[in-house]
Amino acid sequence: MTDTSKQDRVLIFDTTLRDGEQSPGATMSHAEKLEIATLLDEMGVDIIEAGFPIASDGDFAAVKEIAERSVNSVICGLARANFKDIDRCWEAVKHAGKPRIHTFIGTSPLHRDITALDPDQMAERIHDTVTHARNLCDNIQWSPMDATRTETDYLYRVVEIAIKAGATTINIPDTVGYTAPRESAQIIEDLIANVPGADEITFATHCHNDLGMATANALAAVDAGARQIECTINGLGERAGNTALEEVVMALRVRNDIMPFQTGIDTTKIMNISRRVATVSGFPVQFNKAIVGKNAFLHESGIHQDGVLKNAETFEIMKPEDIGLNDTNLVMGKHSGRAALRSKLKDLGFELADNQLNDVFVRFKELADRKKEIYDDDLVALMSDARPEDERLKIKFLRVICGTEAPQSADLTMIIDGAQHQITAEGDGPVDATFNAVKALFPHEARLQLYQVHAVTEGTDAQATVSVRMEENGIIVTGQSADTDTVVASAKAYVSALNRLLMRREQAGPGADKRVVTYKDVS
Ligand code: KIV
Ligand code: ZN
Repeated sequence: MTDTSKQDRVLIFDTTLRDGEQSPGATMSHAEKLEIATLLDEMGVDIIEAGFPIASDGDFAAVKEIAERSVNSVICGLARANFKDIDRCWEAVKHAGKPRIHTFIGTSPLHRDITALDPDQMAERIHDTVTHARNLCDNIQWSPMDATRTETDYLYRVVEIAIKAGATTINIPDTVGYTAPRESAQIIEDLIANVPGADEITFATHCHNDLGMATANALAAVDAGARQIECTINGLGERAGNTALEEVVMALRVRNDIMPFQTGIDTTKIMNISRRVATVSGFPVQFNKAIVGKNAFLHESGIHQDGVLKNAETFEIMKPEDIGLNDTNLVMGKHSGRAALRSKLKDLGFELADNQLNDVFVRFKELADRKKEIYDDDLVALMSDARPEDERLKIKFLRVICGTEAPQSADLTMIIDGAQHQITAEGDGPVDATFNAVKALFPHEARLQLYQVHAVTEGTDAQATVSVRMEENGIIVTGQSADTDTVVASAKAYVSALNRLLMRREQAGPGADKRVVTYKDVS
C-alpha cells in the first residue's frame, strides 16, 4: 500500500468569494460570504481568497469579518499594483491569524498596452508594490496576470523581481483559459529551472475554463512543480469559470497512483458546500457536471445498472459517500417528525440549529401537505429557498387567473419595506401577468435576461425550481426559488433577484461596483 504521508502536499487556494463572485450575477450577501468562508475553512481549504477589499465597502467588510472569524485557513485579499489597493487590502486581512496579500498586474503585451507602462516601468512598479506589500505582511502572493500570453523572457524577469522584492507565492494565471496541459506544465518547469530564487517560493496555478481545460491545465502544472492550485467550488467564475475545486481534489485522490500528491481537503464535505454555493450564488450546477452534478453518480442504462449492482467499481471510480452524497433512500412525507427531518437534513449535509430547524419544519409541513412524497432533491430545494428575515421585498399573497381565455391576470400583495401594497395586473400568460404586478408595485429599470424552469423531481406534483437573471446599469443579479406551483416559484425567484439588486446597490454605493473598478486601473 502507498505511504501517502511522504507525498508532496498541494495547497488548495479557494477563490469562490473573489474570482467566483466576480461572475456576473453571482452576488452573495455578507452573511452568505461568511457562511461559505466557514464551510471552506471546515473542509480544510489552505487559503481562502475572501474578496477584493478596495472594490467596495461591502467587499472590505466581508474580507475583514472573514479574517476576524478565521480558524485554520490563511485569509487572502486581492489588490492591484498600487499602494492604495495594497493598504486597503492589508487593513482587511490583517485581522486574520494567518493573513496574505495577493497583488497582481497584467504582464502580457496586451495588458502592458492597456496600463500604458513600458516593460521597464512595469518592472519598477512590480518591485515597488511587492516591496510595499512585504513591508506590511510576511505572506505575499504575486500574479503576472495573463502570464500564459506573456513573453517567456519578460515573465522570467518579472517573476525574479517579485521574488527578490519578497513574494512568497508566485501565481501563474491563465487568465483567459488559453493554455493547454503540455504548455501549462512547460511554463512551470521553465520558471523553476530558469528563475533565480524559484526554489525558495511556492508556484501556484490559476486556470480559467474557456476551452474546458482548466482542471487538466492545473494538474499538469502540479505535475511540473506547482504546489498550490487556485480553484472555486462548482468551477464558479467569470465566463466559463475557474478550475473546479471538487475536480482537482477528487482527481488527485482517485488517481493518486499517477499523481502522488496530498491535499488537506475533507472530501466528504464537497457535496454540501457545492449545494450551498449553487444556492447563494444563484448559479445552478449543470446536471452532468463532474463530481457534483445531479447525474454524476446516476446509472440510467440497463447494462450500467446491472454492472453497478453486481460490483459498484464496474462503472464507478469513486463512491458517492466520498463526496458526502449519502443514499439513505428514506422518503419523507407529512407524517415525518422533526427528528426524522433533522436526521435526513444532516445526511444531506445541512446541520441546523434549533431555531433554523423550526423554520424549515414549518415549510416542510406545508410542502408535505401539497406533495405526497418528499425526496432528497425536494429537501435540498426547500433548504435553498430559505429567505433572510431582513429582505426588503416579500410576497404575501398571489392569485393568478389563467387559461385559454385572455387576459391572464395576477392579484398580488407584497410587503415593501414593511408596508403592504396590493395590485391586479394583466399580462401575456400567468408569469408575465405576475411579473407585471411585481413591477407595478416596485417600479425598476432592471431588464430580465433569463427565465428558466426545472422540475426538481418527477410527477405532476413535483416542485419547480425557477431561476431569474436581471441586469441594471451593468449590475447583474440572479434569483432562484422552488415551489409546487410554478407561477409562485417564478414570482419568488423574481422578487429574490430584486432583493439582491437592492443589496448590490447598497453594497456598492455610487460608482463603487467592482466591475466599475477595473483591473486596468493600476494608478
Ligand atoms: O485570472 C486572473 O488572472 C486573476 C488574477 C487577478 C489572478 O484572477
Ligand atoms: Zn482569475
